[in-house]
Amino acid sequence: SNFSYIRGLGYHVPERVYTNADLEKFVDTTDEWIVSRTGIKQRHVVENETCLDLTFEATQKALKDSGMEADELTHILVATFTADTVIPSAACLLMEKLGLSNRIPMDISAACSGFVYALEVARALICLHPDSKILVCGCEILTSRVNWEDRSTCVLFGDGAGAVILTAENCQNSGKVIDVLLSSEGEGETLNVRGGGSAYPYKLGDTVGENHFIQMQGRSIYRKAVRSMSAISLEILAKHGFTTEDVDVLIPHQANMRIIEAVGKKLEIPSEKVFSNVERFGNTSAASIPIALAEAKEVGVIKNGDLVLLATFGGGLTWGSTLIQF
Ligand code: ACO
Repeated sequence: SNFSYIRGLGYHVPERVYTNADLEKFVDTTDEWIVSRTGIKQRHVVENETCLDLTFEATQKALKDSGMEADELTHILVATFTADTVIPSAACLLMEKLGLSNRIPMDISAACSGFVYALEVARALICLHPDSKILVCGCEILTSRVNWEDRSTCVLFGDGAGAVILTAENCQNSGKVIDVLLSSEGEGETLNVRGGGSAYPYKLGDTVGENHFIQMQGRSIYRKAVRSMSAISLEILAKHGFTTEDVDVLIPHQANMRIIEAVGKKLEIPSEKVFSNVERFGNTSAASIPIALAEAKEVGVIKNGDLVLLATFGGGLTWGSTLIQF
């Protein structure tokens, strides 16, 4: 068959927590504003940890969950735009830390949608090479690209990593990835991180400028995110003969509670079937979907037999959906 199966899931976030009250101390904002506009109450922020530390911990948990050993992995995909270094890639560093070599490590860049894009790449690899055992991580140290003096962005983001292991073999407790749909619109004004790119190179002696930081037009992102995630969710359901009533758990990209609720509403999926943890983690970009998926499974929100719908949206612009039968 052409199906891939999720054999194990795990996530990891840094120890340190910034509550909204903590942010009030260094930027002109209030807990009330942040909660009412975004639903976010706290976010985890790295202190000494890096992308490598978080992907390593998330991977250990996914391996344990799958009952597999690191040695069995054939490919390592990391969705991120905040790897420890430009070269080597996050995936190469992770391979080394796992004590492996001669695997196929690569990073995938699709901003917040990176994990779902990486899942599609992993599925294609499994079709070509059915013996593959593929680690797919989403990790972001977004706070390294946050301007802590800009209240309109700094309250939104957090750091974290999530990981899944994908194989062609079914197994007890595994999730069958029925399909992934991807879409995009090349458009860089509403959401970007420019600094360090070859059009905006850093020069010796530069101090950090605005371009180093994530910049976005919040209102426009909000509208596009709701519209795109809803449309591509309906498309994947229809393609496989499902309706929104068949969905047991909807996991939208955890950007903002209002976006999550609006997508649920548009799809007419009751709120108790819409999973969110944005309240505790903020927007962790490429890590948001795998963290939410791993947590929902861990706490029993996702049960055996459940049909799970993922919907994502991010910079690029990129978006996508995924159907998984647990
Ligand atoms: N605390 C207090 N006031 C603030 C803050 C803050 N942290 N941030 C902005 N404000 C002020 C603004 O200055 C503005 O004041 P003004 O009217 O005097 O100019 C006022 O609040 C309203 O600002 P808006 O931007 O209009 O507020 P809005 O209701 O649109 O909410 C938000 C802003 C939360 C960013 C919203 O647009 C949103 O959620 N957008 C989606 C963005 C997002 O989630 N991006 C994540 C990255 S993209 C992704 O992950 C896919």
